[in-house]
Amino acid sequence: MDEAVVTGVLQAENGGRIPIQALQGNYRTYTNDNGNKGVATRATLRTDAYIDHHGEQALKTQDKAQAKRRAPLSLLAALAAATALTGAPAHAADLPKLVEKDGRHALLVDGAPFLMLGVQANNAANYPSQLPKVWPAVKALHANTLEIPVAWEQIEPIEGQFDFSYVDILLKQARDNDVKLVLLWFGTWKNNGPAYAPEWVKLDNKRFPRVITAKGETRNSLSPHFPATLEADKKAFVALMRHLKTADPDHTVILVQPENETGTYNAVRDYSPTAQKLFAGPVPEKLVKALGKKPGTWSQVFGKDADEFFHAWSIGRFVDEVAAAGKRELPLPMYVNAALRDPFNYQDPYTYSSGGPTWNVLDVWKAAAPSIDAIAPDIYMRESSNVRKTLDQYARPDNALFVPEIGSDKGYARHIYDVLGRHGLGFSPFGLDHTGYSNYPLGAKTVDAQTLDNFGVHYRLLGPMARQWAKLSYEGKVWGAGEADDRKAETLALGDRWTATVSYGEWQFGSIDQPWMGKVEKQPGREVPDGGALIAQLSPNEFLVTGYRARVSFGSAKGERFMMARVEEGHFDNGQWVFDRLWNGDQTDYGLNLTTLPQVLKVKLATY
Ligand code: DGJ
Repeated sequence: MDEAVVTGVLQAENGGRIPIQALQGNYRTYTNDNGNKGVATRATLRTDAYIDHHGEQALKTQDKAQAKRRAPLSLLAALAAATALTGAPAHAADLPKLVEKDGRHALLVDGAPFLMLGVQANNAANYPSQLPKVWPAVKALHANTLEIPVAWEQIEPIEGQFDFSYVDILLKQARDNDVKLVLLWFGTWKNNGPAYAPEWVKLDNKRFPRVITAKGETRNSLSPHFPATLEADKKAFVALMRHLKTADPDHTVILVQPENETGTYNAVRDYSPTAQKLFAGPVPEKLVKALGKKPGTWSQVFGKDADEFFHAWSIGRFVDEVAAAGKRELPLPMYVNAALRDPFNYQDPYTYSSGGPTWNVLDVWKAAAPSIDAIAPDIYMRESSNVRKTLDQYARPDNALFVPEIGSDKGYARHIYDVLGRHGLGFSPFGLDHTGYSNYPLGAKTVDAQTLDNFGVHYRLLGPMARQWAKLSYEGKVWGAGEADDRKAETLALGDRWTATVSYGEWQFGSIDQPWMGKVEKQPGREVPDGGALIAQLSPNEFLVTGYRARVSFGSAKGERFMMARVEEGHFDNGQWVFDRLWNGDQTDYGLNLTTLPQVLKVKLATY
C-alpha cells in the first residue's frame, strides 16, 4: 500500500477557502482566508482506493513521490474515506483525553485509544543542544512517545519573563519525527527538591520556605503550605499551558506531568509553625468523607499515619491547584509520578519520599487532586514480584495504569507485558538517549544499540498494532504476563471457558520437560528473563495472541475436548488486519511458539 498525501482546498461555509494538507503521521495546520487556524487530520489513503465524489470542494490525492490522480471531494468526505480505509482516527484536532468505562481506561489521542510506547529522556536533555542526541534513540527504540522535561528555571529564569524557545524547538522536532510528547514539569518538586526551580525561587528561603523537620532541621524540599510558592509555580505552569494552546494546535503534547516525584526525603512532613497550625486543625471534610472517617484533628483521624497523610494531602492539594490552573488554559490530561515505597512491607516514611503518591496514600491523593487524571509508578525495582505488586496497586478502576519510568536495563523490558496485561496505557524506560548518561545500578550500565534494542524488540512488535491493542484494552478483555524471575509457566484464566498457559525457554518442537531425545539443551541467551505474551479476546472463542520468546498453550477451563480450529498469522497495516498464512502442524502441535520475530496470531478455538 502506498502512502499518500492529501491536499486540497475546502470551501468553508462562510465562503472562506481553506487549503489543507495531511500527511500520514503528521498533522498540518492550515489558515483559512479569514485568518482562522485549524488542523487537517492524519490521512493515509491507498492510492488504488476509489475516492467518492462529493461535488463542491476540490481535493486531490497524490502518491507521496508523484501526483498520480485527482479526485474532488469535500474535506469531511476525504477524511471519512481515509478513516474508513485506514482505521486512522478522524478527529485530529480533538484534545487528548483520559477516559474511563467500566473501570477500564484509555488515553484518547485524535479521538481514539492510543498506546504509549514511550521513552523518557535523561534529566538534562531539555535543551535544543541535546535534542539531536535524543531523537536517534527514540527512533531506534521504535517509540511513539517521548517524555521530556520542561524546567521552570529554563522558561522563567527571571521572574515574570518567559522564554519558550526550547518548547517551540521541541514541538517542531517532535512533529518532524512523528513522535508525541509528554511534558514533565520540573517545578516545585523534582525528586523532592526544587533543583529545577529558578534561582529566584530556590535561593529565597524566606519567600519560598522549605520543610522543617520535627527536630527543627531544614530540608531541601519546599513546603506545600505557603501560598507564595503555589502562586509562583502556578503562574509559570499556566504560562506554559497557555503557550502550548497556541504553539501546539495539533496536540503533539498528549500528556503533562505537573511536578516530578513529589514528596520529601528525610522528613515525614513540615513542622514549621504554619504547618503545625494546620496540623492541629480539623482534617478537611472532603478527605474525611472520601475515606469514610469520623471528623477530628489529623492525629485523631489518622493516628500513626497522621503526619504522612497530612503531607500527602497538602502536596496533593498544591499539585491539584497547579494542574487545575493549567487545565483552565488547555485541558490536557495530567498525571503525577510516584517514587515508590516497599510494595509489600511497612516502610518508615522517613526513608522514602513522604507525601508523594505512594500506594498507601493513593486514596488521600485521589481526594486531594481531582484534576490529576492518573497516578503513575516509577519502577526501579528489579524483582518481578515487586513490579507486579506495584502494578496491581496502581491499576485500579479509579486509576489508569501507566508506567512513565522504569529502569533501562534488559530485565525491565519484559514488564511491558505485565503492564499491558493489566490494561495499562503505556510504558516508558527511563534515560534512554545519547546524552551520555546511564543510571546503573537502577538501570543499564551503558546506553548502546543493544540497550535500546532490549526495548526496541517489543516496541517493534507492538507498534503496528498499538492503536488496535489500545482499543481492545479499553473495550474488552486483555491479558498478559512478562516472564517472572522464577521462569515458571503461568496459566491465565481467559474468562470461564478458556485458559492460556504461557511458558518460557521451550524450543519449537516438543517440550523441555519431556524431551524426545531424552535430553535437550537449554535455549541460549536466556540469562536475563525477557519473554512475555499478550492475549486479547476478539469474540467468545477467538483471541489475538502476540509476544516475545514465549509459548502460549490454550486450555479448556471446563475440561472440554477442544482444538485450535484456525491459527492465522498476520499483521496490522494502518489498522487493517492483513492475513499472511495459517499456522498448522508443527507450528501448532506444541503450543504457539512465539520467537524473536514480530508474530501476531488470530486463534479460533472450537470443541469437537
Ligand atoms: C526518578 C526521577 O523521576 C527521574 O527524573 C530520574 O531522576 C530518575 N529517577 C533516575 O533514575
